[in-house]
Amino acid sequence: MTEESFGRAVQIIADRRSHAKVQHEERIQEIEDRIPEVTEINRQLFRTSRNLMEIIRQGKDASQRIERLREQNFQAQHMVRQLLEKNGYPANYLEMHYTCEKCQDTGYYGGTYCTCLTELAAKLSAKELNRSVQFENYSFDNFSLQFYRGQHGENGKDCYQAMERVLCFCREYAMHFTPSAPSILMFGKTGLGKTHLSLAIANEVLRKGYGVLYDSTINFLRQVEREHFGKGVRDDDTLEALLSCDLLIMDDLGTEFHSQFYQSAVYNIINTRMNRRKPIIISTNMGYDEISYHYDERITSRVFTSYTCLQFLGTDIRVLKKQQQRQSFRKN
Ligand SMILES: Nc1ncnc2c1ncn2[C@@H]1O[C@H](COP(=O)(O)OP(=O)(O)OP(=O)(O)O)[C@@H](O)[C@H]1O
Ligand SMILES: [Mg+2]
Ligand SMILES: [Zn+2]
Repeated sequence: MTEESFGRAVQIIADRRSHAKVQHEERIQEIEDRIPEVTEINRQLFRTSRNLMEIIRQGKDASQRIERLREQNFQAQHMVRQLLEKNGYPANYLEMHYTCEKCQDTGYYGGTYCTCLTELAAKLSAKELNRSVQFENYSFDNFSLQFYRGQHGENGKDCYQAMERVLCFCREYAMHFTPSAPSILMFGKTGLGKTHLSLAIANEVLRKGYGVLYDSTINFLRQVEREHFGKGVRDDDTLEALLSCDLLIMDDLGTEFHSQFYQSAVYNIINTRMNRRKPIIISTNMGYDEISYHYDERITSRVFTSYTCLQFLGTDIRVLKKQQQRQSFRKN
């Protein structure tokens, strides 16, 4: 999480709090204008508690009166709620309404940052990290199964049927996503829609309000490396974001295995997220043998045994699209 996004999150939460206050005051004003009985009850309560404060200030024993006041207060609140309902308002209309009831929009809870603050900051910093991707271009709706029709994979597998299942799985995955959803390994040759479907998932999951980080594996690792060796301005922000976001999408795994640092970073990310039960979507051009050959067994055994493996089949869709364009160009 970057300092900048944390600062902005603090600001947004402070704004929420003052907004809640302003709205609360507006509601009080509205009710005082419309239901004079409520105003009267509030005034009486105010008087009683002021008297009580005076008694306490004079050092007299006020325990009995405090008890009575508490009782009065309780009854008054009950009456106010009834009056509100009788006049067509929700019973809790005069209470403060916070975006986060837990910390009452202060950003702090139980002596530390409230999750509403840390989650907002993570989301803002995810937005920064994802800035380069045009998510809108990739959806389930513009993913067509027609490109896979009539084709067969190496062992005679029907590509259309296989990809129909892949599409169906991804749709369901996105629709029912929770931060403890399973991890996915998408593998298959180039141009078959791995990036397209992972971004379609990202779109849905972002729309649900979860934090998603997407980039090519090598870009993520370069950034982590820059920060690790202190060449970047921000210290370890990216790694922490990669470890803690709701959904991490590491595209194009497979060009980084020559570096010891990258290998151990990949291991760290996969392992830590697995321990935290947080999902990753990894996509790669490598097949099972290649992955096993290039990566440490500690990584491969984890991925192959606990990820949902989706094999992409067919013919490079970039090529098919070009052919279609040429054909329609000739026709016109
Ligand atoms: N089923 C599909 N329907 C429509 N467009 C598709 C489909 N599959 C892929 N495309 C488009 O084809 C191009 C290549 O797809 P994509 O980038 O998802 O392939 P990939 O499997 O990630 O390839 P690589 O392994 O090279 O990264 C993209 O522009 C993508 O939007
Ligand atoms: Mg791709
Ligand atoms: Zn909170």
